Amino acid sequence: MTKELELLQSIATRRKTVRRFTTEKPPLELVYKALDTACQAPSGSNTQPWRFMIVEDPVVKSRIREAAETGEKVFYETISAERKKKYNAMGHTWKKPMLEKAPILLVVAADATAPNFRPSVWLAVGYLVLALEAVGLGSVTYTPSEAELVRKALGIPDEYTLETILPLGYPADPKDKAPRKPAKELTRVNYWGVPGS
Ligand SMILES: Cc1cc2nc3c(=O)[nH]c(=O)nc-3n(C[C@H](O)[C@H](O)[C@H](O)COP(=O)(O)O)c2cc1C
Repeated sequence: MTKELELLQSIATRRKTVRRFTTEKPPLELVYKALDTACQAPSGSNTQPWRFMIVEDPVVKSRIREAAETGEKVFYETISAERKKKYNAMGHTWKKPMLEKAPILLVVAADATAPNFRPSVWLAVGYLVLALEAVGLGSVTYTPSEAELVRKALGIPDEYTLETILPLGYPADPKDKAPRKPAKELTRVNYWGVPGS
């Protein structure tokens, strides 16, 4: 294995979702460095359909939380009791305090007029979460149940979709990383019936 791949793998392996943060505000320079890495992602016809909003203003954060929780309340009312129980056991409810408590919210929007805008933007999000990990910042790719409510609350124009909001900061989340299946378990070779070996 090359040294570069070793480094990449170690960052990917240690990265975990972080939903709780210290109150210390990370320098924006670090966030921009991670965003520059995200901008290196490939995209359909190189259109770079990702757009970012860095939100630090508590007033805007609480507006985001309010819009997001409005959607989450509806979502939690519509799901089955069994599903709700499962989410609750994982610590998820309609309440999203991380949207106010995280020192920074990074909103990721997509230019919906670009070809393959959604896969392109999510590829960039993949680069982004690795880069954030590499600069010591924790994050969670929160996907609001009613993203349109949040998009409108932020005044993001109609031709963009709101894809995710990443609350981010220095990690204060003791939760372990969820285990992963090895690649060979998830791979077939040449034919679907032939497992990876
Ligand atoms: C596309 C996508 C959507 C996600 N949406 C949410 C979300 O809305 N809320 C949340 O708390 N976590 C969300 N997550 C985080 C996952 O729950 C988390 O990555 C997964 O449980 C694995 O845990 P780990 O990242 O700590 O390894 C999302 C992750 C992805 C990739």
